[in-house]
Amino acid sequence: MDGKLYKVVVGKKIINDFSYVLHVFSPINHQIIGSIPRVRTKEQIEIIFKNAKLAFHEYRNVDFHIRKKWLLNFCDLLKQKWDELSNIIVWEIAKTKVEAIKEIDRSIEYIKLTIEEYEKIMKSPLIIDESVHNVKGKTGIFTYEPLGVVLAISPFNYPLNLLVSKIAPALISGNTVVYKPATQGSCVGSFISLLLYEAGFKNGEVSCIIGKGSEIGDFIIDNPNISMISFTGSSDVGKKIAMKNSLIPVILELGGKDAAIVLKDANLKLSAKKIVKGAFSFNGQRCTGIKRVLVDVSVEQKLIKYIDEEIEKLTIGSAIKGNFDITEMIDIKTLKNNLYLLLDAYKNGARTNQKIKRKGNILFPVALHNVTTKCKIAWDEQFGPVLPIISFNEIEQAIDICNKSQYGLQTSIFTSNIKLAKKIASTLDVVTININESSSRGPDIFPFGGIKDSGKGMQGIKEAIISMNKIKGVIENE
Ligand code: G3H
Repeated sequence: MDGKLYKVVVGKKIINDFSYVLHVFSPINHQIIGSIPRVRTKEQIEIIFKNAKLAFHEYRNVDFHIRKKWLLNFCDLLKQKWDELSNIIVWEIAKTKVEAIKEIDRSIEYIKLTIEEYEKIMKSPLIIDESVHNVKGKTGIFTYEPLGVVLAISPFNYPLNLLVSKIAPALISGNTVVYKPATQGSCVGSFISLLLYEAGFKNGEVSCIIGKGSEIGDFIIDNPNISMISFTGSSDVGKKIAMKNSLIPVILELGGKDAAIVLKDANLKLSAKKIVKGAFSFNGQRCTGIKRVLVDVSVEQKLIKYIDEEIEKLTIGSAIKGNFDITEMIDIKTLKNNLYLLLDAYKNGARTNQKIKRKGNILFPVALHNVTTKCKIAWDEQFGPVLPIISFNEIEQAIDICNKSQYGLQTSIFTSNIKLAKKIASTLDVVTININESSSRGPDIFPFGGIKDSGKGMQGIKEAIISMNKIKGVIENE
């Protein structure tokens, strides 16, 4: 794919001035795949938010059916443009074509479910009167209203889906949106800004800011016209956003160190299959990836054997060449960090049955055994295709290792004793526990979130809508 010039929508305008651009390089061949008009100054950003606030005063009064129609038009456009869009995803983040298409389908489904849920929420306001509570002479009617300007900041790993899951609930509720895609994801971000415009959002409801976070990030997250922030990305940036915005709602989806706890009575073959899928899909570059295995020492060797067999089955190759399980990682920095963690684990006695091998941005998948809590990889988020395996004698040790993590996203428990799994679940400092399955954000209708360094607030279709609205109460008094 040749470098392409991408226009971008900022408020009412389609920007096509290419005198100052962000170049996006592909992790596949390191060539420029897109150049996009870039925002550079604080003043430009201030104007964008000011205009988004002005547009909000109009848009909040646009009838729900029109908002719905525009979002459905957007779905149709995503469907029509699936081939072009999925190619952009492949080149921009090295996700395979099959996975890119899945992401598009999931996003369309997400928007439709968001519309349905919003309708349900709006149809049933909370009414509190004497018939339900001791509120003599009063009838309180509580409804939802949009907040204003929602700032959405999305990561590289789901450049479409994790944008849509912020933009759709904001727009259906009557908020306007300013969004900033990750640098690796900016081609997708600008491409969909034009689709949103074509779908009907051409009156300033949507603005896409393109630029380097390191250059303009501070100006974006610190603006008085922002009413709510939804961010997915690193824990460090998330904390900064939370500190600068203590008086507005902030939803953060950050890092994770999800463990798979394997008990001695688990179906080990099936557990290994699910763990390998959970750990290595999209090269381990998912917040919900399985990032460590905690296994009962009595079944450790058997589990390692099954995990090795599953790793052996993984196909490896460039994302543009086929539907491979392991493709190019997003950047050399992350790849090198994985090698550094591997080396540190080796120095601390860990071993692997796989060859440690790298080809360009592709890091071959590795399971590390003999890992102890002395190894950095027992704690640090690798965000890559390296899976540490730690054994335990008593379940309390595994629980302790889970809970000592700085992260608190999800945990998986593999066992045939569901009662015990539920008991363990009650002791874990995470938001979601998956019994006999790897961690994941979906199904998207489920509430999803993290605690500690994994996040703040809840997402999921219904929760995202609620987080982008405020409650308005009208109290009638007799
Ligand atoms: O990377 C973070 C995503 O929210 C993970 O989503 O579990 O659907 O892959 P997923």
